[in-house]
Amino acid sequence: MVASSFVATLAVVPLLPLVLLLLIRLSIRGLGWFLQVKSRDRRAAIITKVRQDREAISTRLRSTHQASEDGWEKIEKSGSADSGKPMHNEWEGIVGFFHPFCNAGGGGERVLWAAIAATQKRWPNAICAVYTGDHDIDRSVLVTTVKVRFGITLQEHSLVFLYLSRRRFVLASTYPYFTLLGQSLGSLILAYDAFQLLVPDIFIDTMGYAFAVAFCKFLFPKVPTAAYVHYPTISTDMLESLDDTTGQKGINSGAGAGWKGKVKRYYWLAFAVLYGWVGRQIDVVMCNSTWTQGHIRQLWGSKKASSTFGAIVYPPCPVEELQAKVEVTQESEKRRENITLYIAQFRPEKNHSLILRAFAEHHKLAKDKPKLVLIGSVRSNTPDEKHIYKLRLEARELGIKDATTFICDAPFSVILEYLQRSSVTTNGMYSEHFGIGNVEGLAAGLIPVVHNSGGPKMDIVVPYDGKPVGFHAETAREFAAAFGRVAALPPDERYAMRLRGRASTKRFTEAAFANKWVREMETLVKMHATNHP
Ligand SMILES: *[C@@H]1O[C@H](CO)[C@@H](O)[C@H](O)[C@H]1NC(C)=O
Ligand SMILES: *[C@@H]1O[C@H](CO)[C@@H](O)[C@H](O)[C@H]1NC(C)=O
Ligand SMILES: *[C@@H]1O[C@H](CO)[C@@H](O)[C@H](O)[C@H]1NC(C)=O
Repeated sequence: MVASSFVATLAVVPLLPLVLLLLIRLSIRGLGWFLQVKSRDRRAAIITKVRQDREAISTRLRSTHQASEDGWEKIEKSGSADSGKPMHNEWEGIVGFFHPFCNAGGGGERVLWAAIAATQKRWPNAICAVYTGDHDIDRSVLVTTVKVRFGITLQEHSLVFLYLSRRRFVLASTYPYFTLLGQSLGSLILAYDAFQLLVPDIFIDTMGYAFAVAFCKFLFPKVPTAAYVHYPTISTDMLESLDDTTGQKGINSGAGAGWKGKVKRYYWLAFAVLYGWVGRQIDVVMCNSTWTQGHIRQLWGSKKASSTFGAIVYPPCPVEELQAKVEVTQESEKRRENITLYIAQFRPEKNHSLILRAFAEHHKLAKDKPKLVLIGSVRSNTPDEKHIYKLRLEARELGIKDATTFICDAPFSVILEYLQRSSVTTNGMYSEHFGIGNVEGLAAGLIPVVHNSGGPKMDIVVPYDGKPVGFHAETAREFAAAFGRVAALPPDERYAMRLRGRASTKRFTEAAFANKWVREMETLVKMHATNHP
């Protein structure tokens, strides 16, 4: 009797973890259900308010457009598919954007607002809700700022802000140890905070909180999810840097030595596995560059993943604006001078020194008195100030002091002037993830001579129409040779290369971003429709 119950217990033991997992899953589902019920009233209130505002606007529009019925019809019809298939453009769900730091003002902001603008245009009846930790956001002020700063037009009435109050849980300073894990688990608390305010119909993270997205999937299996990844939380580069002995691979260079290094390595490896599992729960993944896509596919891609997993959606660059403001014609060719332009912050990793040495070599051989112009921001009270001093010294030692111009914190008008006057754009950083400066140079018709690595190699300076748009180099000698080749190009070939380069930047335009974004969103909208017949 005793023996048989003992055997029975033994048989059950292997099942225990499974039972435990099942229980955890069920309680998360229960929590999800509770959140949905809890935020139901707020949801209804938001929908009612947006609908009222929309009706008020369309009544106003209709009264001003009474005379021209046509105009109104055109507005109504834009956005429907030509094929006549229903494209769900009448979809009226709520898209939740998880973006705890809204006012940071960087490139990430531009992506968020451009994404919202594209979504609003494609689904005029949808509501875009932004979960933010910035409590001082005033919607109408923000709409104006976004218009002025980025030239992006947002529909105010269907944009909703939901204010998070637990943002401290995702600050790095909250976790002196095990920061990666701490911040990731902290983002679960912040996500809970968000869902308590409102459970969206589609949930999108645009700031790298993959754990929050996976959490959403477990709480609400029927809510399609997406992540726009700027940067993987952990990368194989980071793991490799632990073994680096040259001190060139960032702050963790060589940190893998000793017992502390061992602990760090196991912690990072374990985190990478967890991060990979988390990432695989997300329905639609977008990456901002080839570099990011490579890492995300490695970390998140399962065997099932198709070749379309982690599509590259380049962030919108101000290409259209530069194309309008900088002329590239036979006429403008006459105004271009022998100037090589390097736009980058004055920081060691940008390797201005490499460009100075290369330029000195080129300068020695060139008959035509070429010039080098370095434009960059200098963050005050940082080692940047000392760094630029050293660069000036170096230019003097190299004998190119008179040919080199340093310009700190230049306003846009000065940058624009140099984009019009210069012939070549360059960059010296090893493995730069992207380098928007290179895109700007290319859009302005400059011929790029860039480092043979990272984004400049993989994303930006790639052949167009089967022909090169610029040159890659690695050593000072190679850079000098490439500068020489540009100078030696026959004028009509150089002009043709400028035109090709400019044309190639159309994949970085705001319009290209909007198209790709909407395509990925359509997948989510369809999933939502399938889940809610
Ligand atoms: C992608 O995001 C990272 C991190 O913000 C940034 O360094 C990189 O330049 C971005 N890539 C593009 C294509 O903007
Ligand atoms: C550089 O200067 C030479 C001679 O002054 C000129 O022939 C050549 O076209 C210039 N190159 C560029 C890129 O402006
Ligand atoms: C700059 O480039 C040179 C040549 O490739 C390289 O040896 C050096 O380490 C680089 N410096 C930095 C700070 O990246």
